[in-house]
Amino acid sequence: MRANNSLFYGILCALATAILVHGQGQSGYISIDCGIPPHDKPQDIVTKINYVSDDDFITTGINFNVSEEYGYPKNPVLPYTLGDVRSFPQGNRNCYTLTLSKGKGNLYLIRAWFMYGNYDGKNSLPEFDLYVNVNFWSTVKFKNASDQVIKEILSFAESDTIYVCLVNKGKGTPFISGLELRPVNSSIYSTEFGRNVSLVLYQRWDIGYLNGTGRYQDDRFDRIWSSYSSISWDSVITSAYIDVFQNGYWPPDEVIKSAASPKSVDDPLELIWTSDDPNARFYAYLYFAELETLEKNESRKINILWNGSPVSETSFVPSSKYSMTFSNSKAVTGKDHLVSVQKTVDSTLPPILNAIEIFTAQSLDEFSTIIEDVQAIKNIKGTYKVSKVWSGDPCSPRLYPWEGIGCSNNNHNHQIKSLNLSSSGLQGPIAMAFKNLSLLESLDLSNNDLQQNVPEFLADLKHLKLLNLKGNNFTGLIPKSLMKRFKAGSLALSVDDQNLCHSPSCQDKKKNNMVVPIAVATAVIVLIVVLLIIWIILRQRKKGAYSGPLLPSGKRRFTYNEVSSITKNFNKVIGKGGFGIVYLGCLEDGTEIAIKMIKDTSSTESQGSSSKFQVEAELLLTVHHRNLASFVGYCDDDRSMALIYEYMANGNLQDYLSSEKAEDLSWEKRLHIAIDSAQGLEYLHDGCRPPIVHRDVKTANILLNNNLEAKIADFGLSKVLPEDDLTHVVTSVMGTLGYVDPEYYRTFVLNEKSDVYSFGVVLLELITGQRAIIKTDEGENISVADFVWPFFDAGELEGVVDPLLHGEFSPDSAWKFMEVAMSCVRERGYNRPTMSQIVAELKQCLAAELAREPQSHEDEAVKETKQN
Ligand SMILES: *[C@@H]1O[C@H](CO)[C@@H](O)[C@H](O)[C@H]1NC(C)=O
Ligand SMILES: *[C@@H]1O[C@H](CO)[C@@H](O)[C@H](O)[C@H]1NC(C)=O
Ligand SMILES: *[C@@H]1O[C@H](CO)[C@@H](O)[C@H](O)[C@H]1NC(C)=O
Ligand SMILES: *[C@@H]1O[C@H](CO)[C@@H](O)[C@H](O)[C@H]1NC(C)=O
Ligand SMILES: *[C@@H]1O[C@H](CO)[C@@H](O)[C@H](O)[C@H]1NC(C)=O
Ligand SMILES: *[C@@H]1O[C@H](CO)[C@@H](O)[C@H](O)[C@H]1NC(C)=O
Ligand SMILES: *[C@@H]1O[C@H](CO)[C@@H](O)[C@H](O)[C@H]1NC(C)=O
Ligand SMILES: *[C@@H]1O[C@H](CO)[C@@H](O)[C@H](O)[C@H]1NC(C)=O
Ligand SMILES: *[C@@H]1O[C@H](CO)[C@@H](O)[C@H](O)[C@H]1NC(C)=O
Repeated sequence: MRANNSLFYGILCALATAILVHGQGQSGYISIDCGIPPHDKPQDIVTKINYVSDDDFITTGINFNVSEEYGYPKNPVLPYTLGDVRSFPQGNRNCYTLTLSKGKGNLYLIRAWFMYGNYDGKNSLPEFDLYVNVNFWSTVKFKNASDQVIKEILSFAESDTIYVCLVNKGKGTPFISGLELRPVNSSIYSTEFGRNVSLVLYQRWDIGYLNGTGRYQDDRFDRIWSSYSSISWDSVITSAYIDVFQNGYWPPDEVIKSAASPKSVDDPLELIWTSDDPNARFYAYLYFAELETLEKNESRKINILWNGSPVSETSFVPSSKYSMTFSNSKAVTGKDHLVSVQKTVDSTLPPILNAIEIFTAQSLDEFSTIIEDVQAIKNIKGTYKVSKVWSGDPCSPRLYPWEGIGCSNNNHNHQIKSLNLSSSGLQGPIAMAFKNLSLLESLDLSNNDLQQNVPEFLADLKHLKLLNLKGNNFTGLIPKSLMKRFKAGSLALSVDDQNLCHSPSCQDKKKNNMVVPIAVATAVIVLIVVLLIIWIILRQRKKGAYSGPLLPSGKRRFTYNEVSSITKNFNKVIGKGGFGIVYLGCLEDGTEIAIKMIKDTSSTESQGSSSKFQVEAELLLTVHHRNLASFVGYCDDDRSMALIYEYMANGNLQDYLSSEKAEDLSWEKRLHIAIDSAQGLEYLHDGCRPPIVHRDVKTANILLNNNLEAKIADFGLSKVLPEDDLTHVVTSVMGTLGYVDPEYYRTFVLNEKSDVYSFGVVLLELITGQRAIIKTDEGENISVADFVWPFFDAGELEGVVDPLLHGEFSPDSAWKFMEVAMSCVRERGYNRPTMSQIVAELKQCLAAELAREPQSHEDEAVKETKQN
């Protein structure tokens, strides 16, 4: 028996190795040296493996070096990654996210390294669990501080990322020293369970070779082979070429070219082990290649038995040309295991074994969270930069869900049932993503800095039973749909008072031990505000600067009889609105006023809410701006409610534009009207706290006084009117055809940008002289925006601009104006400009128009500077 030493095979072998090193290298490898400084990319000079630091794979954890006595240079043979660790004192589950270059559906070898090395100086050995994705992998335990624990698993990837999670079981802080992932040929290491199990490495032995390093660059899957031999065995080694590729297992040369056979020809070659877990399902993969040159009268034929049962169906003859791999087709369970490699009776030579790998099967029986919930919660995590330890699957493993999350556990998947983000530093509006958590029952967002409106879509969460929004910065009211569920008792709702009702007065209704102080404080504040305003008005009146009418002795609250006498028994109707009829009135000093009688609200509820009406009306009295129609008083008694405004001689813009007076409305005058109304809206949005959304911006609500100064009317009406009337508002006012923000239509979320949309329509009416809804020659109704769009798209002014202007305008100014108007009517609210941006742009339009004929516009220019 002498070793086969063919030169030809030797050359082939060298070639094959060269191809491997250059062609494959470490392609698809992920090699993390946990605990090294960020962005470090060291190479292990022994294995030539290129490592990286953790920072692309995990955001949590703290780096440590092992203590001196366990690290380099005291222990020069320490495996590369063991000198430092990343430790996870926070959160019960910390996960590395490994993104797979070869993608899902493939088999991967994952290996994790651990050595405690007293890195934390506590001399206390932790015990913790490892998971791959949602499934248990292994428990990590140490015998002593220098114990090197290496865990390895072969797992099929179900998605393009694999999570490796360390779970704190309350037995010490988890840590990790190194983490490696290698793509493996998916057609090997198969079991009868297909992809339903992962294989956890139990032992991997290179039989008969005692001088090996255990890890070889020509092992594409970078397995680590431990040396194993026995005193009753002989080592056999060859340098001949052996093809390891054919069956896909690709054992490295060093492993396959060494083997052992029993010293005594008739003895079997036996491997024995005892399992801690009698239910563990074992698989063994045995490698064979003939390393000796057989004489004609020699033969080697082998049988493999496992606890007495054959592993291979028939006996076989190892080949000297290529390696063979045998494994049991069905899992073997039990406590004691004996694998026996025996020669057959007709074999003249003893059996041989080159290598063996033993695994236990780990079922993949845990479920993941449904993808919709995962996407939604990740979106929430990203939107608010949630700083919790949230990694891996939100709900799974079910004993360790993400902090603040509770899940439903049924037999197919998990869904998020509760989410507690209280005091988590959330900022901004409530994200749409919450809506996608379709099974959510409890949502606690209290004590954050959430802003804007409480969105309607929260009411779409059918299962929601608890909603805590307290301690945030929401503006506006809780949507009716939510209030309805709250009132029906199906939703426990906690909100700040300012979001619960229109006015301080309704706080009285709450069973709140702060009622008396709040009521008194409110009354005092209202009183102070009212006095302050009267004082300001009186002062301004002295200076002659206040343009609105004044009521005798600052009176603002009227009785029905007084209103009746002011309007001369309601004899002159000057308008009709959704709320009721508007009458002309005249005060004793001759000031003309407009009195809006609110439609009869003689139902019993309105009686109860009349004091609320009063408080709101008082509050509205405090809103003052030169471009807001002055609200000068109200009537609120048993018989009726009325709002009293200054009278605007030139009526509303809609009527004006369609009257013969429009002939004289120059482009410059139109620009002034646009700027005036824009400033009025800007004040409502930005100057009022909380902001007031008008909700019904339209040319009919823009009033013109004697000097054609424009003022916004009807602002805050929806605030003033009793809540029970809001449905009425929705149908008759908030939905004025042609002005309604389409996004509001879809989402029912109303905000400042809805006003911007409506204002865009107003601007388009101003420039075109058309109404918001245009009847085409074909008898079709189209919006003014749709009418303008083709011209705008083609860059044409002609055909769009009101013919009444007779071309008397700066094209630059008109074009810019058109751009502003069209940007206001954009589909998405967030794409629309704010009112202050609009004001600035419109002023530029005016400047462009004034630049057209500088001389003749001098006095207007002066006026314009005053306005600023
Ligand atoms: C670990 O030791 C290295 C080399 O001495 C040093 O650069 C690194 O900062 C140490 N890391 C920590 C977390 O102390
Ligand atoms: C630590 O445990 C390992 C594994 O059991 C053992 O080989 C080693 O000798 C132990 N070292 C010390 C210092 O006890
Ligand atoms: C894997 O599990 C699925 C679902 O339980 C089952 O339908 C399938 O037959 C299993 N495959 C194998 C190979 O066991
Ligand atoms: C291992 O190495 C030693 C010394 O380097 C050598 O004497 C021995 O033959 C080698 N054994 C094998 C099996 O290669
Ligand atoms: C995987 O192994 C099989 C043989 O079992 C082989 O046919 C196939 O080409 C290998 N795949 C890759 C990607 O190497
Ligand atoms: C095989 O033949 C050789 C001589 O060629 C002899 O020395 C050897 O004993 C034979 N072996 C067996 C098992 O018959
Ligand atoms: C919410 O669900 C819708 C429809 O299923 C989807 O289009 C949207 O992207 C999801 N949003 C998030 C944040 O997951
Ligand atoms: C949310 O967590 C906070 C503390 O973290 C707790 O006070 C509160 O009760 C929790 N909310 C719910 C609904 O369980
Ligand atoms: C609300 O917003 C204001 C300013 O926008 C900020 O100063 C305040 O801290 C916020 N309140 C809360 C509770 O976050």
